[in-house]
Amino acid sequence: MNSSDRHLRYGWWAVCIFLSLGVLLEVLHGFKIGWYLDASADMRRLMFTLAHAHGTLLGLVNIAAGLTLRAVKGFEVTRAQSQSLLWGSGLLPAGFFLGGLIIHDGDPGLGVLLVPVGALLLLYAVWGFARTLSRVK
Ligand code: HEM
Repeated sequence: MNSSDRHLRYGWWAVCIFLSLGVLLEVLHGFKIGWYLDASADMRRLMFTLAHAHGTLLGLVNIAAGLTLRAVKGFEVTRAQSQSLLWGSGLLPAGFFLGGLIIHDGDPGLGVLLVPVGALLLLYAVWGFARTLSRVK
């Protein structure tokens, strides 16, 4: 499987999973679930909303990456850049989600430590994509 296929496959699965998380959040609202909606769970709500929004949007970024790799002749990224985009796109929303699963007195759980790792991978990846793309003749 080439990197374009990998980004497209990851992207569509991410959109599927994180849109489903949006539906789950809707259900938690619908049933007025205190574990999610109480004032004391504000941090959980923020973290889950961030996981939903970032996971979905990063799925779309991967679809855009996969399509760009197909559409632009001569555009190729390194394995490290491609893997960084994939891992960053997974780790960042996973960190938000895990950080919200267990909260401590209004602070997110330790899972949130995955967020900066994911953010750095994403920055490295999109910088690499942009730089490589601007060198294509
Ligand atoms: C491309 C698709 C989507 C994107 C980019 C997206 C993005 C977002 C963003 C940015 C927020 C935060 C809004 C804010 O707090 O001001 C949000 C919240 C929310 N989204 Fe989505 N969303 C998408 C689709 C969906 C779908 C299909 C559902 C479910 C039917 C959904 C359910 C929710 C819910 C329930 C919240 C509020 C969570 C809360 O505050 O408790 N989203 N979404």
